[in-house]
Amino acid sequence: MVRGNSRQGTGNPFIPVRCLLFLIPLSLGIDTPCIRPYSDVMKENPEGLIVALTGASGMPYARRLLQILCEKGMQVHLSISEAAFLVIREELGLGLDIENPDLEALVGWQGHSHRVRSIWYHRVTQLDAPIASGSFPTRGMVIIPCSMNTLGAVANGLASNLIQRAASVTLKENRRLILVPRETPMNAINLENMLKAARAGAQLIPAMPGFYHHPKTVEDLVDFMVARMLDSLQIGHDLLVPYEPHTNEVRGEGPIRGQGSSRNL
Ligand SMILES: Cc1cc2nc3c(=O)[nH]c(=O)nc-3n(C[C@H](O)[C@H](O)[C@H](O)COP(=O)(O)O)c2cc1C
Repeated sequence: MVRGNSRQGTGNPFIPVRCLLFLIPLSLGIDTPCIRPYSDVMKENPEGLIVALTGASGMPYARRLLQILCEKGMQVHLSISEAAFLVIREELGLGLDIENPDLEALVGWQGHSHRVRSIWYHRVTQLDAPIASGSFPTRGMVIIPCSMNTLGAVANGLASNLIQRAASVTLKENRRLILVPRETPMNAINLENMLKAARAGAQLIPAMPGFYHHPKTVEDLVDFMVARMLDSLQIGHDLLVPYEPHTNEVRGEGPIRGQGSSRNL
């Protein structure tokens, strides 16, 4: 696991070797912010959020969500599928290292490592990560963007990587699971999988921004979607203000970024 940009190792943090690594510098009076056990992390914030990036288009949504969560100091458990690294390269122009990705770059805040300190990275192959267990408390999980592949796995109860396993755990623990699927057009299997996932308790928030808030920029469209996810997670934000039909405004000059609408339409 990697926190922020600091190497954390990749195995189970509860193994004795890790405890020793933690205790030795502690006994010497040395602060070890990068080798802390999870019990400390959980004390800090017992209800972190799992954020998983999979290989669908839509990485700007993921980046914006991570920015907001970091700004709020929320503990984020991040996992990224192998295909997502390919899409990140295409859409964000970043060639990230799967073992130790540059989280500052991913979030878009190079040179500000302290701002991504609340992110804990878990490799997608790390099936013994704490988020693979229901006993690890979280407030839920967002898969953003969610590929049709991962959607199919989640809808059908597969758990062959950490993202799928964490989603399965989130459902079995009756926690909030938000899927942000993106594909077009969708085939009948995709549609059936969305229905299956919804029936199993997931919330589907497809990457389908609206236009009634009169977006001026791509960022406005991204914020529209991220606002929906934050609303669903009951995390306060000021990305958009509640919708009110405009009566006196000139057509095409409606509310702008920070003043638009997020009503459930
Ligand atoms: C640049 C790029 C864009 C892609 N966009 C999508 C997409 O929008 N939706 C989707 O379902 N799959 C998309 N794919 C295909 C998935 O990445 C592929 O099915 C992969 O197996 C998903 O694996 P994952 O679910 O483990 O991330 C894209 C792939 C690439 C390389």
